[in-house]
Amino acid sequence: MSALLDIAGLSVSYGHVSALQDLSLSVGEGEIVALLGANGAGKTSLLGAVAGVVRPRRGRVTFAGTDITAAPVPARLARGLVLVPEGRRILVSLTIEENLLVGAHLRRDPEGVRRDLSGIYERFPNLARRRHMAASCLSGGEQQMLAIGRAMVARPRLLMLDEPSLGLSPLFIGHLFELIRELNRDGLTILLVEQNTGQALAAAHRAAVLELGRIVMAGAPAAVASDPRLAEAYLGRAAEAAPLH
Ligand SMILES: Nc1ncnc2c1ncn2[C@@H]1O[C@H](COP(=O)(O)OP(=O)(O)OP(=O)(O)O)[C@@H](O)[C@H]1O
Ligand SMILES: [Mg+2]
Repeated sequence: MSALLDIAGLSVSYGHVSALQDLSLSVGEGEIVALLGANGAGKTSLLGAVAGVVRPRRGRVTFAGTDITAAPVPARLARGLVLVPEGRRILVSLTIEENLLVGAHLRRDPEGVRRDLSGIYERFPNLARRRHMAASCLSGGEQQMLAIGRAMVARPRLLMLDEPSLGLSPLFIGHLFELIRELNRDGLTILLVEQNTGQALAAAHRAAVLELGRIVMAGAPAAVASDPRLAEAYLGRAAEAAPLH
């Protein structure tokens, strides 16, 4: 099977700070791949390099057979690489509908955009009811749904989610993962960055654990869940940060 996304030998650094080192990962068409790891492991840097907002020092990113390592962000968006960033970045002074239309700014098919908006409103009645209200009226969970809705309007082929469950109530986390599974069942390929390892491993087809910019383990979710290196990837970082007595 040829991968939809193929990352090979990727290194990213910020000045002297190394964020990713010689990292390779692929995502097959139709998969949910979970990328797990503690704070500072390099998860956002990886998504940034794929989305084109972070320039890698070394390595290659191939999407649907095309080398996109040096492609600008709009070209990647046009190919269907869509990122829902950490912290959602909803424009709170715009209405819900205006936020959704941000996702359509590269599209030239107003009829199709209308249809997609109706589909999103059907999926999210909470957004539909308040479509002409400022997005600031939404709860954190609803804002995450809006951010995903906005990404869907861009017609993704690969949806990248950066810690979508962060700060959400358990109930909303349940809804969120239901939505992730549903979108995937409809054919969407998803690269999911999460610190909520339980939910992410339950939804994913494959998982990789990142520690200090390197993948320390990858494989089937059940194998990753039961591997002591998963806990170590989190504890290791905490132990490093905690003073030793
Ligand atoms: N803009 C930046 N300038 C300097 N260093 C950065 C920058 N962004 C990230 N880093 C550093 O790069 C490393 C990886 O950070 P990154 O944000 O990719 O990790 P992360 O796994 O997404 O963490 P978190 O779970 O906190 O979101 C960290 O050491 C971080 O301090
Ligand atoms: Mg991050």
